[in-house]
Amino acid sequence: MFYPLENFLQVFVVASYLNIQVNKIFLIGFMGCGKSTIGRLLANQLDWNFIDLDEQIVAHEQMPIEQIFAVHGEPYFRTLELALLEPLRSHEKMVVALGGGTPAQEAAWSILCHGLTIYLRCHPDELFRRLKDDHQRPMLGRMPPYERLLHIKNLLTLREPFYCRADFTVDSFAEHPPAETAAIVAQLVRESVLRKQKRPQN
Ligand code: S3P
Repeated sequence: MFYPLENFLQVFVVASYLNIQVNKIFLIGFMGCGKSTIGRLLANQLDWNFIDLDEQIVAHEQMPIEQIFAVHGEPYFRTLELALLEPLRSHEKMVVALGGGTPAQEAAWSILCHGLTIYLRCHPDELFRRLKDDHQRPMLGRMPPYERLLHIKNLLTLREPFYCRADFTVDSFAEHPPAETAAIVAQLVRESVLRKQKRPQN
């Protein structure tokens, strides 16, 4: 469990240890963990741009994600995720909310390594609470509640090894309002950038 102060220390230490120039943040995590909500708030706090990869895909295809899956299938959607992620490699001062399945593709990491990755970790029971009535995410399928919970747990187990590659993890608890989480991360990023800028150049 990470509390705000621990989050602070964690980002600070990790960013300086990895010698990362923090000019891009990739938010990763399971569906419903708060990537888009926290990402928007975080970008606002930092005065950076915000990009939601799912929104980019919808705009590119001119159809909702559900329909992309139905018409073209999941592999097509996954190819699109990578294709639209690639140009972000060179962007700066940007917070990107990825889809829940994006970082589960090995190829995504050659792009994600150009920024600071943050895993917004959320307990499966909380994810289920947030997603139980969702009928728009194709990866959740259409199943009774008890099956959906099991499905969430199974999918999370498969994806967690990828999520855990993130530079650091922030717990996205129900009792932590998204604005609070975003403010903490924003402060940490500012500190990390500042520290980097102050470092004497070789
Ligand atoms: C997906 C998550 C969705 C979206 C698509 C596939 C996944 O994004 O990219 O439905 O495979 O987990 P969110 O995580 O923003 O819901």
